[in-house]
Amino acid sequence: KVEKKLSEKTVLITAGPTYEAIDPVRFIGNHSSGKMGFALAEEAAKRGAKVILISGPTSQKIENKNIELHRITSAKEMFAKVFEYYESADIAIASAAVADYAPKEIASEKIKKSEDFMTLELVKNPDILKTMGEKKTHQFLVGFALETNNEEQNAKQKLNKKNLDMIVLNSLQDDGAGFKKDTNKIKIITKNEILDFSLKSKKAVAKDIFDFAETQILK
Ligand code: C5P
Repeated sequence: KVEKKLSEKTVLITAGPTYEAIDPVRFIGNHSSGKMGFALAEEAAKRGAKVILISGPTSQKIENKNIELHRITSAKEMFAKVFEYYESADIAIASAAVADYAPKEIASEKIKKSEDFMTLELVKNPDILKTMGEKKTHQFLVGFALETNNEEQNAKQKLNKKNLDMIVLNSLQDDGAGFKKDTNKIKIITKNEILDFSLKSKKAVAKDIFDFAETQILK
């Protein structure tokens, strides 16, 4: 029964890190593996949804043919790709670890080492999820939060500030949760409730997320 609920829905998911070029050979990035986002994409596809997966650089591969994978590199590319599809999405989930800043200029040649110190000027990247919140018409919008302190309070603030319907909080306090791991421990937070889940595989976490999202969307 549950399997059928997401059919005829389009689910847009962002995943992985973004890489922000410094010069032709270097970038600023982060340790996101894309595992959570790819697990979400497989779970949504298994439930019959059409899935648009927009991912930064990762070694993850897709299995289900109902997933349309778009690989991008930078936050700006992710932004552009997301808004090609956002209108058509019923559910949008931002699980990407988008770089907050990018180098102001990308050097056209490899930067040579000369001085003992060098300064890189960085400019804030667009907040993709916040923009999705601003442009929201019918979409059910889900964000992720990785917090180190005042976790629930910060996540709740993010829920409001970005105009989300739900936020998935993963804690760095928990062993076995977060970057590169195959497991995760989450809390799901909405305006009205907080649900606490146990440590489990990211695949099982993806199931919990859609089980809960379905109760919110498909009433
Ligand atoms: O504000 P913060 O980066 O902590 O929020 C995390 C959430 O926002 C995640 O869902 C992440 O995918 C999304 N995000 C985004 N674009 C950014 C920064 C974060 O979509 N530039």
